[in-house]
Amino acid sequence: MEISRVAVVGFGTMGSGIAQTFAQSGFAVVAVDADENALRKGMDAITSGPFGLRKLMEKGKLTQEQMQEILSRITTATKLDEAVRSADFVVEAIFEDLETKKRVFRELDAFAPKHAILASNTSTLSITALAAATSRPDKVVGMHFFNPPQVMKLVEVVRGLQTSEETVKLVRELVAKLGKTPVICADVPGFIANRVGIIAILEAIRLYEQGNASAEDIDTAMKLGYNWPMGPLELADLIGLDVLLNIAETLHRETGNAGYHPPTLLRRLVAAGYLGRKVGRGFYAY
Ligand SMILES: NC(=O)c1ccc[n+]([C@@H]2O[C@H](COP(=O)([O-])OP(=O)(O)OC[C@H]3O[C@@H](n4cnc5c(N)ncnc54)[C@H](O)[C@@H]3O)[C@@H](O)[C@H]2O)c1
Repeated sequence: MEISRVAVVGFGTMGSGIAQTFAQSGFAVVAVDADENALRKGMDAITSGPFGLRKLMEKGKLTQEQMQEILSRITTATKLDEAVRSADFVVEAIFEDLETKKRVFRELDAFAPKHAILASNTSTLSITALAAATSRPDKVVGMHFFNPPQVMKLVEVVRGLQTSEETVKLVRELVAKLGKTPVICADVPGFIANRVGIIAILEAIRLYEQGNASAEDIDTAMKLGYNWPMGPLELADLIGLDVLLNIAETLHRETGNAGYHPPTLLRRLVAAGYLGRKVGRGFYAY
């Protein structure tokens, strides 16, 4: 199957970056969001955000003409049914709530063409559970981009219990067409990167919380000792401590592994509103 028309549902942080990535690789994209304001903000981010097209133009990576061409491939819509009617491929990137996502997958199943593949960018929810809300579980798959999607090279392709080999192959090829590297993982909590990375970040928080080492020394140890480009506490601040807490709670609940149990300090920082870089204060002050 040849994929040419892509619909991105949910045009927030991830959705707008994913839409830009597809449009830059030559795909026609319809971006859908229930909130008109999000559509405006998403298009602004694509045009003039920190990872947007204008920045690429300033760096000499795009001409004005190419930028206009990429922008002309993206249209926006608030109504899901019309937007996905001619899509070959749908990526869902609405907020992380199972019931809301299941509702959207039921609608996608009703309105998207029978051949269309339905992918989710979920970080923590089960692809198999989303697939069960549709009549085409073999065509439902995880396509987990990393933030910011325009820049990060990794995409985890998640195989639900009923996802077909053909679907996995197609998504793997699609990821390569986007200039990114796919890794394939079963539908397990946290997939690969978060499963391994989050437990390390939480352990770093515990070391710090118990007064065993300073934040700077923990981060330096991992940067110089393990060649991490960023220390675990810096990374926690970048992810957002509220987002991190949410992921930790889900992984703890789903795996029963005590390593994912959120440290008290993480809960207290979130309660205080110290959510990391986005508010100027987390483990560090910015
Ligand atoms: N932010 C990250 O770092 C990151 C990284 C990887 C994966 N993810 C995953 O990506 C998804 C989106 O995260 P985000 O950070 O972009 O969220 P976000 O809150 O920035 O954007 C979500 C968007 O979805 C829209 N929306 C909600 N319900 C909708 C519906 N029924 N129909 C259409 N639009 C709807 C909202 O209006 C909002 O604009 C989540 O599943 C998250 O787990 C996030």
